[in-house]
Amino acid sequence: MKILVACEESQAVTIKLRELGNEAFSCDLMDCSGGHPEWHIKKDVFEVVGENKFDMIIAFPPCTHLTLAGAKHFEKKRASGIQEENIRFFFEIWKIADCIENPMGIMNGGKYIKEWFPLLHQEMVDAKFPFKESQKIQPFEFGDPVKKTTCLWLNGLPLLSGTNNVEDEVEYYVSKNGKKMSAWYAKQITVDGKKHGYNSLEFKKHRSKTFQGIAEAMANQWAGVAK
Ligand SMILES: C[S@@+](CC[C@H](N)C(=O)[O-])C[C@H]1O[C@@H](n2cnc3c(N)ncnc32)[C@H](O)[C@@H]1O
Repeated sequence: MKILVACEESQAVTIKLRELGNEAFSCDLMDCSGGHPEWHIKKDVFEVVGENKFDMIIAFPPCTHLTLAGAKHFEKKRASGIQEENIRFFFEIWKIADCIENPMGIMNGGKYIKEWFPLLHQEMVDAKFPFKESQKIQPFEFGDPVKKTTCLWLNGLPLLSGTNNVEDEVEYYVSKNGKKMSAWYAKQITVDGKKHGYNSLEFKKHRSKTFQGIAEAMANQWAGVAK
C-alpha cells in the first residue's frame, strides 16, 4: 500500500511499514531523525495530500496546545488563538486520516470546545466529528514499559490489539506535588552525552516520538499480511 505517516519526524511507523513491503512516507515540517530521508517529505501535510493519493493515512498531529498536561496555560492559549488553530488542524486531519493519535486532551470530549469555541464546535458536530476517541492504549501493552495514556481516533481501521503486556516493568517516580508518574516523564534527557531540559526542542522531540511497540503493532495489524 501507499501510506502516509503524517506529522512524523522519527519515522518509527514509516520504517515498520517499509519492513513489511509498503510504500510508506513520513511527512513533517521538520527534518526526519529516523535515518531515511529518502522516505521523508519535509512539507505541510495538506500540501502532500493535495499532490498525492494514499491508500492509508496515519497522523500524529501536535498535542502541545490540546493536552491536559498544559491546562494551566489554556487561558493564554485561547487568547492567542493558538489553541483554536490546533483544534482546527486536528479536525482537518481527521477528515482525511484513517488514524489519529494524541494524548488525553480537549479533543476527547466536546465540552471544552463547545464552551470556548462554539462556532467551531458546531462545525465539528455538523461534520459528525466523534468527540470520543475510538480507543485508549498504553505503551506497556505493546512491550515498552511506560505508562502514557494514548488515544486513537480510527476511521474504519480495527482497534489495535495489545501485543506484549509489560505493565509489571513500568518504573514510577513521585513528583513534588505527590503525583505518581511513569519515570519516563522525567524532566531531562541525555542525548549523545548532553543533557537537555524540559523546554528544549530535543526534549520535546524525544517525548513525542512514537514507541517502537505501538509503531510495530500499527504496521503489522493495519498494513501487514493481507487477511
Ligand atoms: C506530536 S509530534 C508527533 C511526533 C511523532 N509521534 C514522531 O514519532 O515523529 C507532532 C509533529 O507534527 C509536526 N507538524 C506540525 N505541523 C505540521 C504540518 N502542517 N505538516 C506536517 N507536520 C506537521 C511537528 O513538526 C511534529 O514533529
